[in-house]
Amino acid sequence: MRLDRFLSETTDLTRGLAKKALHRGEVTVNGEVVKQPAQHVGEQDRVHLEEELLVLVGLRYIMLNKPAGVECSARRGLYPRAIELIELPKVERLQTVGRLDVDTTGMVLLTDDGQWSHRVTSPRKRCGKVYRVSLAEPLEGEALENAVAYFAEGVLLDGEEKPIRPAGLTMLTPVDAELTLYEGKYHQVKRMFGAIGNRVEALHRVSIGPLSLDELAPGEWRELTDAEVAAFS
Ligand code: URA
Repeated sequence: MRLDRFLSETTDLTRGLAKKALHRGEVTVNGEVVKQPAQHVGEQDRVHLEEELLVLVGLRYIMLNKPAGVECSARRGLYPRAIELIELPKVERLQTVGRLDVDTTGMVLLTDDGQWSHRVTSPRKRCGKVYRVSLAEPLEGEALENAVAYFAEGVLLDGEEKPIRPAGLTMLTPVDAELTLYEGKYHQVKRMFGAIGNRVEALHRVSIGPLSLDELAPGEWRELTDAEVAAFS
């Protein structure tokens, strides 16, 4: 790969700024200052920008415990973006795998591997996503039985042409539910409870497929292990 491209892949420099850094003599390859942007570098070469050794990053797979007040959008908006919590180079290349609302907390996966992202989100893969839901009104007795049956048979939400995929509902207390979904429609959990005359007060995603948030505190993130990445193949 050309040296200027290598620099732009491994740092936050654009190709233009990489060329300027080269011109200033800030880059060494195997200990020698190199100024030519077109010089070829390969895996065996040790490239430093000033004192920093540069390493090509491969595809990245990250789990974040999203706090409230952070959005899953790629574009800058009113709120800080989930990618801004990840202290890695080239975070702009990462995309969230599905989205959580700004006020929803919990597990978000981020990656620059589009095919993997598709495997995790595709409803056909039946990858369950588990949410803890705090409700405004208690849900118990006959109303609960009706809700469990209604969610299990597939609710037709306002504005949708097809019913949603069957979802699993379990109550932990009369106002705390655990809901398992197999797809991710816009505001799906809030709309489902709205459809049975209730309201979601707080929403937290605890797991996606075989991955659970374990000990990550709000705002913390970690890279997935190879086995965790492979679990969605
Ligand atoms: N359903 C919602 O209503 N909001 C979320 O953030 C996720 C699922």
